[in-house]
Amino acid sequence: MQTIRGFRDILPKHIPLWQKVEKEVTHLFEAFGFKEIRIPILEKTELFARSIGEVTDIVEKEMYTFEDRKGDKLTLRPEATASIVRSYIQHKMYAIDPVRKFYMIGPMFRRERPQKGRYRQFYQIDAEILGVESAYVDSELIFLLNELFKRLGLTGLSAHINSLGCPECRPSFQKALLNFIESKKDRLCENCLRRMDKNPLRIIDCKIAGCRKALADAPATLDYLCNDCSDHFNIVKTTLEKQGIDFIVDKSLVRGLDYYTRTAWEIQTTYLGAQSAVAGGGRYDGLVKELGGPQTPAIGFAIGFDRLVEVMEQTNKTSEALSLDLFIISLGDAAMEKGYHWSCELNQADIRTEIDFRGKSLKSLMKRANKLGAQYVLIAGENELVENAIVLRNMNTKEQVSLAIETLIPELIKIIKK
Ligand code: HAM
Repeated sequence: MQTIRGFRDILPKHIPLWQKVEKEVTHLFEAFGFKEIRIPILEKTELFARSIGEVTDIVEKEMYTFEDRKGDKLTLRPEATASIVRSYIQHKMYAIDPVRKFYMIGPMFRRERPQKGRYRQFYQIDAEILGVESAYVDSELIFLLNELFKRLGLTGLSAHINSLGCPECRPSFQKALLNFIESKKDRLCENCLRRMDKNPLRIIDCKIAGCRKALADAPATLDYLCNDCSDHFNIVKTTLEKQGIDFIVDKSLVRGLDYYTRTAWEIQTTYLGAQSAVAGGGRYDGLVKELGGPQTPAIGFAIGFDRLVEVMEQTNKTSEALSLDLFIISLGDAAMEKGYHWSCELNQADIRTEIDFRGKSLKSLMKRANKLGAQYVLIAGENELVENAIVLRNMNTKEQVSLAIETLIPELIKIIKK
């Protein structure tokens, strides 16, 4: 039996990096005032169709959607923003305090063509701030991402930012865009032509080379911003400049989800070939209302956790070595029984201890202790038990001491925790 295409096991040897990121994210995000939220993996299909947009790649062709036994249409979450907004509205969080900062880490599902950095089950680290319109919040989120990546030792990343405007300025941009597209119609793919009436903004995001070429000089939202959107974007830029955060204004960045307004951004890397976005985010000031809540400005981002780890594996060469505090070598039945109890007690005291119950020879067990990276080895055979002198060997210094059975556990804890 094999995993499904695009799904994968993350094996123990890769986990230390995942755990390192999780620890850093929890620590840093909590310092920035974010609270963890856990949302379901399965939601009504309608939630994603309405949030992400009916005429988007995700909703049209990438969602894992099925009918359950009662005929309800359900979808494995392709992203977290829609669910977090649903939760904010469902629990009337806005009534107690409209300003909320959430984060979550977990699996998402999109049926894309699998390749390096692109999976059908992948993980996101997601952060959302609801209830604040100020441009400082936009800068704050980009600053936060920058700080996280710095702490994780990531290099070679670049932040691409753009403003997508608001319902005020969108129509004049769309009109210009449609005029432009009309003139390039004969060079566009069928999918783009189909989307012309329904969602012209998506056409700029088409990945087909011919369309990209034809649309190279397409109008950009940035040239059609109303004064409020323009001021908003200027504050984001000047704030980041003052904080010394590098960014590139990228007029062509439109993102693949429909809910965005104003600031949108992506953090890109050169390490992952075609899958260059390690994180993406933006403002979505209309979504809470669209899903039935009160008008609430909002903004957030998601980091592709798998991609982040892949970049880290390529750039931070120092992978954490396997480590074990103590390896117990018990030779013979009586020593094995003692060893079993010692091991449990030491594990209880947070000492990383292992014992091998397979009855192997001293030589092969010493080899195993080395392989596991044990700092100390405890050797208990028939003689050691009779003489009440259990041998503790420091694997680095090769020094050995003898310990009495009655005081063995406290002595070991004292020595190992030193
Ligand atoms: P997104 O750009 O669709 O945004 O996804 C965010 C990140 O998830 C991407 O930059 C990428 O690193 C990672 N990602 C996406 N698809 C895959 C895949 N198939 N395999 C591996 N990694 C992938 C969102 O999902 C928005 N909800 C972000 C957001 C939050 N906007 C506002 N709040």
